[in-house]
Amino acid sequence: MDLRSQTFMTFSPTGKTGDIMKTMTLNCPDCRVFNVNLLPPQESLRRVFGPDEMLTVAFPVFGGRIPTALYNRLAYIKGNQSPAAIVVTYGNRHYDDAILEMGDFLEGHGFVPIAAAAFVAEHSIVPEIASGRPDAADMKAGHEIRPGPQGKSRRSELRLKPDASTCPGTILIKNSMGCPSRQPPPRTAGSAACAPPACPMKAVPKEHPERTDKSRCITCMACTAVCPYGCRRLRWINVFATKKLLKRACPVVRMPEYWL
Ligand SMILES: Cc1cc2nc3c(=O)[nH]c(=O)nc-3n(C[C@H](O)[C@H](O)[C@H](O)COP(=O)(O)O)c2cc1C
Ligand code: SF4
Repeated sequence: MDLRSQTFMTFSPTGKTGDIMKTMTLNCPDCRVFNVNLLPPQESLRRVFGPDEMLTVAFPVFGGRIPTALYNRLAYIKGNQSPAAIVVTYGNRHYDDAILEMGDFLEGHGFVPIAAAAFVAEHSIVPEIASGRPDAADMKAGHEIRPGPQGKSRRSELRLKPDASTCPGTILIKNSMGCPSRQPPPRTAGSAACAPPACPMKAVPKEHPERTDKSRCITCMACTAVCPYGCRRLRWINVFATKKLLKRACPVVRMPEYWL
């Protein structure tokens, strides 16, 4: 089937998923390309895809699942047996059910998941884990993946994919990490770099960037990544405990995996 368009929707709070997506090449040089940044706070997208319009959704794994922010953003996309690909990044622990969860979601919205890829990237909470990833080899792998309708995979195959190096357990990091806030000692009076659009959940008021609305925060780390002064941080004790846990549980550095 000839594709009419390819749409790439990317949610990347600290930029690593975005880095991987920049390497992806098209297998239909003549089709129209749309890039949608899902990060800024936004209303639910309303877009209908035809059978010859492909969607690729890229996002980081949070607690082995889809970042909750995506449900609202993608609530009204609709496919008509349209091909879809799923790209995840994760911090060398595991992607657990995130790919399947997105596969289910997309199927429920009229898409046919035909391809998926999982890349290791620097852990956005513990940067010492998988630091430097994605690296040149990851980028090369990303460059070689050309999600397109020639793919043979179906979701049943994704489900059956054996994975011997799975780290045991699902660590629901979100529950234990709390939210970034200005931690003492404050290095500056602060700026509003962390307020929307940096914060995808509007959890940082522009007038009071030192505050965090904990009921909105999804611990995505976007605010810490953009802060030029490093004044927004998670509690060091939480980061320290997570680092210890991850280093012990996942000593093997994982490689990109894809199902085409
Ligand atoms: C709240 C939260 C939960 C995370 N959960 C996992 C996880 O379950 N497994 C994993 O390997 N990495 C996990 N990570 C690491 C991210 O998936 C990884 O750093 C990702 O590449 C960040 O992508 P980004 O730079 O596009 O934001 C988590 C990060 C955050 C902030
Ligand atoms: S306040 Fe929470 S949701 Fe907003 S950018 Fe920071 S970590 Fe993400």
